[in-house]
Amino acid sequence: MPVTARLAASLIVFIAAGCASMPGHDHAGHAAPAPDARVAVDFPEPLRTHTLANMRDHLLALQEIQQALATGATDKASQVAEARLGMTSLQAHGAHDVAKFMPEGMQSIGTQMHRSASRFAVEATNAGVTGDVKPALGALAIVTAQCVACHAGYRMK
Ligand code: HEC
Repeated sequence: MPVTARLAASLIVFIAAGCASMPGHDHAGHAAPAPDARVAVDFPEPLRTHTLANMRDHLLALQEIQQALATGATDKASQVAEARLGMTSLQAHGAHDVAKFMPEGMQSIGTQMHRSASRFAVEATNAGVTGDVKPALGALAIVTAQCVACHAGYRMK
């Protein structure tokens, strides 16, 4: 088998195994959905609406960062990260109002996300000097890991 075909075959096995291991994901089609074990957090309006809009901007910021990195615009990637996700973004987001409605674990993931975004901003600036984008990509993966961690643990009521 040529290398590409072998790769494709093992990828299919990998994906199928991933599906099978997902709770409640049964190809027979009539298993009960897995219970949602995430902690439900109660944000009062208009904070809830504001936070979800802010979340959508987080995703947009990641997209803009990836686009900027792909075109070598490392300074732009750095600026977007710092202003929209990093420590600088905290004030703009009204983080103080939101924090008091968050369980402690959620707060600490949020803080980690802002810190790691600021760290990424530094790595992106460095990449502009060294020409090596790998440390910045690694730092960006740590940012997305915080998105993943919070979404895995918490949801809104
Ligand atoms: C500290 C916790 C936390 C962090 C960190 C976090 N989120 Fe969220 N996010 C939430 C919660 C809670 C919801 C609501 C999910 C639900 O109720 O199912 C949410 C919802 C969203 C939504 C859906 C918005 C909508 O309109 O429904 C998007 C998109 C999103 N987050 C993107 C991101 C991205 C991208 C990151 C990382 C850069 C991120 N979030 C980091 C807690 C977090």
